[in-house]
Amino acid sequence: MEWSREMRYRQMENVSKEEWKQLNDQVSSCPWRQTYHVQPPTGLLNDPNGFAYYNGEYHLFYQWFPLGPIHGLKHWYHTSSIDLVNWKDRGTAIFPDTDLDSHGAYSGSGIVHEDKLYLFYTGNSRDASWNRHSYQCLAVMDKNGSIMKQEQAVIPGPPDGYTEHFRDPKVWEENGSYFMVIGAQRKNKTGAALLYTSTDMLDWKFRNEINTSYNTFGYMWECPDYFELQNNGILIFSPQGIEAEGDNFRNIYQSGYLLGHKLNKETGEFSHEEFAELDFGFDFYAPQTSVTPDGRRILVGWMGLPDLSYPTDKHMWAHCLTLPRELTIHNNKLLQKPAEELRLLRQSKKTTSLLLDNQMLPLYTWEDSAYELDVRIEGIEAGMAGISFCAGETEKTMFYYDADRQKLVLDRSLSGEPASPEFGTTRSVPYDEKNVNIRMFVDTSSVEIFINKGEAVFTSRLFPSPDSKGIQLFSHIGEAAFYITKWSLKSINKE
Ligand code: FRU
Repeated sequence: MEWSREMRYRQMENVSKEEWKQLNDQVSSCPWRQTYHVQPPTGLLNDPNGFAYYNGEYHLFYQWFPLGPIHGLKHWYHTSSIDLVNWKDRGTAIFPDTDLDSHGAYSGSGIVHEDKLYLFYTGNSRDASWNRHSYQCLAVMDKNGSIMKQEQAVIPGPPDGYTEHFRDPKVWEENGSYFMVIGAQRKNKTGAALLYTSTDMLDWKFRNEINTSYNTFGYMWECPDYFELQNNGILIFSPQGIEAEGDNFRNIYQSGYLLGHKLNKETGEFSHEEFAELDFGFDFYAPQTSVTPDGRRILVGWMGLPDLSYPTDKHMWAHCLTLPRELTIHNNKLLQKPAEELRLLRQSKKTTSLLLDNQMLPLYTWEDSAYELDVRIEGIEAGMAGISFCAGETEKTMFYYDADRQKLVLDRSLSGEPASPEFGTTRSVPYDEKNVNIRMFVDTSSVEIFINKGEAVFTSRLFPSPDSKGIQLFSHIGEAAFYITKWSLKSINKE
């Protein structure tokens, strides 16, 4: 389907009832609808936005184009939850209906202020010659969920030296002052993050560029997020234009972090370690963090990437959000583990332990399409030891330890309908131990795999045929002991 400019920038109110019905029918006939991930009712979801705890609930918004699987006129869609697990659809929150956001209410963040939820976002607009203008805007939500936009932009354009690629404000408070980081592009076409400050959330002053040692690292930094954890400063961002390098940077665009000393908020100085990727799977981008009332730092990402097509496109929808993950720091690295609350999804439980010696063993009675699987593999003496899942007669997805190459590998070459195979069909991280703990969350069309205490994560969409639900364990050339627990997971999405 060709999407003309008019179709991409159509206002929702001009869509007839019949069209909506047709769109809904196309979506609901899709075999890859998720059961416990946040997904769009129709159309395309991208970045998580405005993630905040307010008025006794978590509020999590996302970028949304309602009318199809493309990046058209973006809205903010609203979901809320009391437990980070059961999400309620709350409908469209921010409509692109003013001069400032006429071509999209782009990404941003939420912060509680004076008993209201302040939503900072980028108003994306195009002029008659299709030149982009970016405004940082404010919309304020009250306890009833009604949202009022502020008429004027809080920041009317980029400072000198930067292009109109200036977006995705993330705001935080520290000792009564407010700070904002914004993704930017320098006039020399390199990416950066800019720091702004305010005393009242309305009047924002450009302080400085965040001064990292990455001066020429891609052409644009999207969705920056700065926070402090265990006395360190962490800057997360999604740089575009980074070349693949061995096992690293294999996706079309990257998402990662700089961990260092706390940012100097007067000067923008930030001393840090090397850029590290947040995720090693095929589909992860533009994450955003928030803090729980009990002080945990939680990250949610977009399980998808820009500028790629996906097998759900033909069903008129695309993408979902990742599960929430708790961040901690250990040995100068961010660890990510599934949020505690995800235990609320657990239903029936099965366990088994097996010693495999150059064997493949199907677990026939374990077939399901939404489950959590904890696999501990111990004493690996095999050349390869791992697990196949979403397996059918000809399909399977594999995750295994490869002793010769000393790597953990996710292989989706036989996963079902291919998704962007031009970016490769395997992802790996270096690994050299005889034991490994693999915690996987499988949904109808995705897997999130957490290694050991969260030192590596692989997030990926998978598009198997509906009857490919098998689970198999294998060890090639040698022994490995498997200790497995599986929980079926309940559905939170009512389709
Ligand atoms: C990242 C991004 C953001 C932008 C939004 C538009 O995926 O490109 O930089 O605000 O998506 O939907």
